[in-house]
Amino acid sequence: MTLISNTLNKGAEKPELYSELVAQLRSLFAEERDFIANAANLSALLYHSVPDLNWAGLYLHRNDELVLGPFQGQPACVRIGIGKGVCGTAAKRRQTIIVDNVHDFPGHIACDSASNSEIVVPIIKNDQLIGVLDLDSPSLGRFDEDDARGLNELVEVFVEFTNI
Ligand code: SME
Repeated sequence: MTLISNTLNKGAEKPELYSELVAQLRSLFAEERDFIANAANLSALLYHSVPDLNWAGLYLHRNDELVLGPFQGQPACVRIGIGKGVCGTAAKRRQTIIVDNVHDFPGHIACDSASNSEIVVPIIKNDQLIGVLDLDSPSLGRFDEDDARGLNELVEVFVEFTNI
């Protein structure tokens, strides 16, 4: 396994950053299929490589709710109903959701008062909802379509390489 995170160009434009991250993730997962290990490494890679985050992690679909999975950042709320908050809404709609200002999102669940914007990407395999990937930022309007594209690509790599 090759770890190249200390050579990552954090000043790169977003598409370049995400293509570097896709390559790193493929390398991290090359010989590993364990769900917890790969989810933990996905969270750590994002948290330490994507600029301006205060939280990055997964919520997992368990018994018709979302339950906190591997993450990096402050301790977070553990259970989120499907359809509740940004995470539950992305899970219910099975769509990526970008929230420029979480304080304007009806029903937003505040886990860390530092969070001002958020992106949530559903994780789906064979039409089954596995969970969501959630990133929070202290900056307003931190996430855009480039982040949505890049994070969806990373989630595809996670699904491809992980036993679910
Ligand atoms: N803000 C999320 C809850 C999870 S935390 O951000 C880690 C939501 O509204 O679903």
